[in-house]
Amino acid sequence: AGIRKFTLRMPVPPVLRPYAVSGTTRYYAMPIKEVNKTVVPGRTTAVRTFNGSFPGPVIKARSGERVVVRQTNQLSVPTSVHLHGAHVPEDSDGGPMDLIAPNGGRKTYTYPNTQPHANLWFHDHAHHAESENVFRGLTGTYLLTDDTEERLGLPSGAYDVPVSLRDARFDDSGALVYEMGDFLHRNVILANGKAWPYFEVAARKYRFRVYNTANMRYFDLSLSDGSEFQLIGTDGGLLPAPYRTTSVALSPGERADIVVDFSRYPVGTELVLANRPDAVPGGPADLVSQVLQFRVTRTAADSSVVPGVLRTLPELPPATVDRSVELFMDETSGPHGLAYIDGKVYDHDRIDTEIAYGTTEIWTVTNANQIAPHNFHMHLVQFRVLERNGQPVTSGPEYGLKDTVSLMPGETVRLQATFTGYRGTYVYHCHIFDHAAMGMMANMRIV
Ligand code: C2O
Ligand code: CU
Repeated sequence: AGIRKFTLRMPVPPVLRPYAVSGTTRYYAMPIKEVNKTVVPGRTTAVRTFNGSFPGPVIKARSGERVVVRQTNQLSVPTSVHLHGAHVPEDSDGGPMDLIAPNGGRKTYTYPNTQPHANLWFHDHAHHAESENVFRGLTGTYLLTDDTEERLGLPSGAYDVPVSLRDARFDDSGALVYEMGDFLHRNVILANGKAWPYFEVAARKYRFRVYNTANMRYFDLSLSDGSEFQLIGTDGGLLPAPYRTTSVALSPGERADIVVDFSRYPVGTELVLANRPDAVPGGPADLVSQVLQFRVTRTAADSSVVPGVLRTLPELPPATVDRSVELFMDETSGPHGLAYIDGKVYDHDRIDTEIAYGTTEIWTVTNANQIAPHNFHMHLVQFRVLERNGQPVTSGPEYGLKDTVSLMPGETVRLQATFTGYRGTYVYHCHIFDHAAMGMMANMRIV
C-alpha cells in the first residue's frame, strides 16, 4: 500500500560473462538462488534469481556461435530453464517435465543459435511450479544478434536497453505474495525489477527491448504525451520495416523492440511510459496506468539510424498440412479450475500432435472463451501470423517472426510454421502461466 512512484532508478540488467570461451562456443554458469533485493522503496524482498540478478542477467549471443549454460538449482523447489523463442534440441529446450532437482541439481543446456537474430528470454518452466517461480523472479534476457542486425547502425551500447515489464503483489513488509490466478491484486508494476522506476535518458534515440514477463498481465504501452515511436522488431527479431505507432500491445511472453527519439524533448522533460488501464486483466487505473518515468537529463551525440528497410523475412514455403487448435477454460471455476487445448487438459505422457519432420503447416488457433484472454506460444519454431480474424496480416506489428501471439476472447489467428532442425517432443501452450498450469498445454512430436 502507498508505494511512491518514480523514486527508484531503473537498473539495466548486467550482461553475464562467460567463464570460458573455446572456438566459437561460450560457456556460462548460473546458480539459481534466492537473494534479497530492493524492489519497492524502503523495503527488502526475497526473490528467486538466475545468478543473483532480478530480473536475471543478459546473455549476448551471436548466430552461428554456440552457447552452453550450466544451471545449478540452489532452490528448494524444482526448476526447468526454457529458452523462449529459441530453435534448440529437445534435451536443451527446458520443457515442463525436464526438471532440475532442487538443492543442488545441475543441468547443462546447449544453445546452437542456428536461427537469425531474435529477442529471446529464459524463464522457469517446471510443470506446476513455473507460475510461482516466474512470479518470484526466474526470468532473464537472451539477445541473439547477427550481421544483418549489427550492420544497420541502430542505437547500441548504453542506448540499447532491455526492459522487462511485469506486475507483482506485495505485503506490507515488502514480501511478494503469490496466489495462483491472482491477477486482481497484482497492482504494482515492475520495470527491470523495480516498482515504477525512473530512467534518466539523453536527448537522443534509444532502443528498448521491451519484454512482457508477467504471468498474466497484458500491457498496452504508449508515451504519456501521445507521441510516436518506432516499432522495429518483435519476438523473432526485426520487422521488415519500422512501424510508426503511438502504442504497442504485449501479451505475456511477447516482446516489442522499439526506438524512442528523445531529441524532441528539452533537457528537464519528464514523461511517463503509460499503460492502457483497461488492458486485460484489470487492476486500479491509478496504479497500473503507469509503468516508468523517463527523465531527459542531458544532451548527447547520436550517430545511430533507423533505416527504412530492416530485414528480409525468410520465404514462406508452401504449407502441406492444416490443423486447428482450440483454447478454452472454464471461466466460472476460478484459478483452480481446468483449462484445455482441444478439450483436453495437459498430460505429459500424451502426444497430441504428430508432425512429420520438415513439414510446413498452417495452424488455425481459436480462443473459444467469451471473457478470458489467452495467447498461444509454440516451442522450437518461430512462426508467421498469416491472418487475424480472417484479415490477412501483410504489414504492422504482427508482420514478422513470432513465437507468441495474443488471442482476445473469440479471436482466431492462422499461423504458419516449418518444423525442421530437430526431432523430438516440444510443448505448445497458453503463455498465461496460470492457464498453462491449469492444463492449457499440449505436446507435439516431430518425427
Ligand atoms: Cu515462454 Cu513454454 O514458454
Ligand atoms: Cu490462457
